[in-house]
Amino acid sequence: MAFTMLLWHPKVFAFMRQLRYSTLMKPLIAGNWKMNKLPSESETWVRELTTKLQHIDHTHAEIALCVPFTHIASMTNVLVATVVRLGSQDVSAHDSGAYTGEVSASMLKDLGVCYAIVGHSERRDYHQESDAVVCSKAQAALSHGLIPIVCVGESLTQRDAGQADEVVVSQLNASLAGISLDKADDLVIAYEPIWAIGTGKTATAEDAQAMCHTIRETLSNLYPNLATEIRILYGGSMKPGNAQELLTQADINGGLIGGASLKTPDLLAIVEAGK
Ligand code: 13P
Repeated sequence: MAFTMLLWHPKVFAFMRQLRYSTLMKPLIAGNWKMNKLPSESETWVRELTTKLQHIDHTHAEIALCVPFTHIASMTNVLVATVVRLGSQDVSAHDSGAYTGEVSASMLKDLGVCYAIVGHSERRDYHQESDAVVCSKAQAALSHGLIPIVCVGESLTQRDAGQADEVVVSQLNASLAGISLDKADDLVIAYEPIWAIGTGKTATAEDAQAMCHTIRETLSNLYPNLATEIRILYGGSMKPGNAQELLTQADINGGLIGGASLKTPDLLAIVEAGK
């Protein structure tokens, strides 16, 4: 009885929670291939990756590849018995019906997809996706058992104007409005400063950590019991040379990797850097 009561002492509870957090929450190393590679070459590429993975220590991390829709069906067969999970780079907000060109969450789930990126800045910019649309997509993903990777991030102009925190917090609140979660694993957030995407410019580890901490605080308002265990990824020119510093920050629980995820040695090096 006394022992049980001790477990509920706030300090002991916080310690146990931290222990669980640090042992069970695996960092997620997710590649975002964007519009690269042909379906016919991706099968060989991914076989090579999974073979090479057997020779490195990767059990500390979860690995996912977010690939174009056209690649999913063939890659799912290759990846089914491996540790690498599949993700899409977008998902429709609608379940089914007359939505030409769209791909629904249930279609992706049926193919064995695990993650769906929503609200990537390239979709927000080039396809005018608002926070409300991103929110509907995240909800559609969750409703069909996909884990949304919700992307947020500020432009250089917004950062230079001192508005980075305000922009990211507002995107986060609006992109998650009304979304309830059963467990922390059901949601991933990716902080991707737009000025660092594909530019070779990376946020300093301190700046990335500071923003990811702000994101964690925002999540604690939305999901008070789950926030410490929701994975927050950093994305934006992550490479073997900067991955370790970024991935060891307290509030960074993985990476969303563009260019470097197209090269097997770079992706493997980033996986190893997250140890
Ligand atoms: P890069 O790693 O190529 O900068 O891309 C980051 C990104 O946009 C991942 O979603």
